[in-house]
Amino acid sequence: MKIAVLPGDGIGPEIVAQAVKVLNALNIGIEMKEAAIGGAGYESAGDPLPAETLKLAKESDAVLLGAVGDWKYDTLPREMRPERGLLRIRKELNLFANLRPALLYPELASASTLKPEVVAGLDIMIVRELTGDIYFGQPRGISTLPNGEREGVNTMRYSESEIRRIGHVAFNIAMKRNKKVCSVDKANVLETTELWRQVMIEISKEYPEVELSHMYVDNAAMQLIRAPKQFDVMVTGNIFGDILSDEASMLTGSIGMLPSASLDANNKGMYEPSHGSAPDIANQDIANPLATILSAAMMLRYSFNDEENATRIESAVKKALAQGYRTADIYTDGTRKVRCSYMGDAVVAAL
Ligand code: IPM
Ligand code: MG
Repeated sequence: MKIAVLPGDGIGPEIVAQAVKVLNALNIGIEMKEAAIGGAGYESAGDPLPAETLKLAKESDAVLLGAVGDWKYDTLPREMRPERGLLRIRKELNLFANLRPALLYPELASASTLKPEVVAGLDIMIVRELTGDIYFGQPRGISTLPNGEREGVNTMRYSESEIRRIGHVAFNIAMKRNKKVCSVDKANVLETTELWRQVMIEISKEYPEVELSHMYVDNAAMQLIRAPKQFDVMVTGNIFGDILSDEASMLTGSIGMLPSASLDANNKGMYEPSHGSAPDIANQDIANPLATILSAAMMLRYSFNDEENATRIESAVKKALAQGYRTADIYTDGTRKVRCSYMGDAVVAAL
């Protein structure tokens, strides 16, 4: 198993180091090579996705990524900004299916800002399309109108085949879960998502056991807070999925708990926490490494078909939580506040 390890910026290196520690502790012959991405790529090679990094990612069986971005790069030309490196690697590797499981660990029920009874037992899989939509649609840009005023343009765009393939991913996942898919759109206003809804209905015919429902994105944002347990699998486009997955993460206590897998058509994947690079707390050893560690578990499950070791990591995380260890973001009275590296050690010990 060859893994490209891309720590990135901000807290990226700290949290990735914990996941690497956990993978090494499994002792299952994983070969890891590190490369720069994001601001780190810009610093070392003048490109947020250096050619060497992309080459390594393409040659590897899977990619483990930390996070990218720092305010200090916000004034660079857009092509040079860290986020562009992330979007490009997703596109280059054709990672169109982004899975973001929002799972509540019972020990963290009181860490959520929502009432424990609202979130207890929560288990949602958000399936976000990752290589299309307004993130990539052309035309785009900022230009000056004839009257001298500036105008910003982005284009929301989905082809039928793009909708179809992410739809199949969602239905297949639902078949292994509670057989419910909620497709999130804004079909009352946006034609792109009117097509999205039509295609979802068409492919649902191939999955007679799965119950398909539709929800407008504004209502979905509200329902996630009101009664999140009504959801099993949610499938949606790139921009809505970006927003809803951050929202869903807070149901689980902290965005520091939400892992993700981004897969191509052959389950080659990139695995990264759903959160950002949090430059404000970088280099302090206080970030929560669990989303990254849980992303490594997803890597074993989806790219290496190693359910046993994926479950071992997840059980070890559970155990560390049951033992009372908490990073600052999930700390509540009566638990033990620990640092990022300590949490990594606690998970290794629990393994
Ligand atoms: C995410 C992030 C990225 C996105 C940013 C950093 C480009 O928010 O992975 O959710 O918008 O996809
Ligand atoms: Mg996001």
